[in-house]
Amino acid sequence: MSLVPSAETRIPLGKSGLAVAPLGWGMWRFGGGDRASARRRVEAALEVSCTLFDTADIYGSGGERGFGGAESLLGEVLREAPQLRERMVLATKAGITPPVPYDSSERYLLEACEASLRRLGVEQIDLYQIHRPDLLAHPAEVAQALERLRSAGKIRSAGVSNHTAAQVDALRAHLPFDLAAVQNEFSPLVIEPLSDGTLDQAMQRGIALLAWSPLAQGRLAVSAGEAPVEPRVAEVIHALDAVAARSGTPRSAVAYAWVMAHPARPIPLIGSQNPARIREARSAYSVQLTREEWYRILVAARGARMP
Ligand SMILES: NC(=O)c1ccc[n+]([C@@H]2O[C@H](COP(=O)([O-])OP(=O)(O)OC[C@H]3O[C@@H](n4cnc5c(N)ncnc54)[C@H](OP(=O)(O)O)[C@@H]3O)[C@@H](O)[C@H]2O)c1
Repeated sequence: MSLVPSAETRIPLGKSGLAVAPLGWGMWRFGGGDRASARRRVEAALEVSCTLFDTADIYGSGGERGFGGAESLLGEVLREAPQLRERMVLATKAGITPPVPYDSSERYLLEACEASLRRLGVEQIDLYQIHRPDLLAHPAEVAQALERLRSAGKIRSAGVSNHTAAQVDALRAHLPFDLAAVQNEFSPLVIEPLSDGTLDQAMQRGIALLAWSPLAQGRLAVSAGEAPVEPRVAEVIHALDAVAARSGTPRSAVAYAWVMAHPARPIPLIGSQNPARIREARSAYSVQLTREEWYRILVAARGARMP
C-alpha cells in the first residue's frame, strides 16, 4: 500500500468542519506580476486539485505592492473570477508587523483581520493564522481576539504558525473552540517537527499540520551544476533523486510525497509561482514511496543512521 495519500483524500482542518486536499498552495512569492499572470498561477494550483490557498498580510512586503500586496492581488483575481473562491479554502495570517516585529494584541488582530477581508474582497476567511508568536501577547488575549472574530463570522477557523507545541497548548487552553491548524517549516531537509513534538501534538489533538517550504525554500530544487550545495543538502538531493528515477517523477514531487507520507498527513504548501512547475506537483500522488526509501531520505537529512 502506498504511504502517500491519493488526490481524493480529504484532510480535516481540526474540528472546523473544513477539509482540504493533501497538497496546498502558498502565496509567499505571489505578490509580483499582473492580474492575468496571477490568475494563471491560481488556476494551475486548482488544476492540481489544491484546495488550501495560503497567504498572509505581510506577503508582498518589500515588493512593488508592499504590505498586503499578495492579498490584494488575490483579491483582484477573485473580483475578476468570483467562481474561483468556492473552490478554495482560503487561509491568511497576521501578526508580523515590521519593524516592531510582532503584534498579536487583540486590538491589532481585530484591525488586521478587517484589512485582510477588505484586500481579499471576501466576507469570511476560512483559516486565520497567527503568523509568529508575539511574546508580549498573553495567550488569553490572542484567544479572545480569535473568538471575537469567529463569533462575528469574520473567520471560520483559527490556526497558528511557527509555534512550539507548548505555545500551541498555551493558546488552546484559553480558546473556546479547537485550533484547526499549525503551520511550521517541514521538508526532507528541515525535519525538526518529527522530534520537537509538533507532529505528535498534531496527531494527539487532531490538528492539521501545514508544512511550509517543502523544498526548503528551493534549496532542494537546485539542479546539477547550479550553486554549490552543502554536503547534507547534496545527500538529501541524492536520496530524493534515487526515488525520482525509480518512480519517473520530478524530485520536487518526491519531496512533497515524503512530507505527505507521515501519518499526521502534513499538507505541503507548494511555493512555486511557475504554472508548469505547479502542475508538476500532481505527480507527487503517483510516487510509490517505500518505508525503506522514506527512512533513507530521513537518514540523509539527519546526517546519521537511525539509532
Ligand atoms: N508561515 C511561515 O512563516 C511561512 C514561511 C515561509 C513559507 N510559508 C508558506 O509556504 C509556502 C511555500 O514556501 P516556499 O515558497 O519557500 O516553498 P518551497 O517549495 O520550499 O520553495 C519554492 C521555491 O523553489 C523554487 N523552485 C525551483 N525549482 C522548483 C521546482 N522544480 N518545483 C517547485 N519549486 C521550485 C520556486 O521557484 P519558481 O516559483 O520559479 O518555481 C520557489 O522560489 C509559502 O508560499 C507560504 O504559503 C510560510
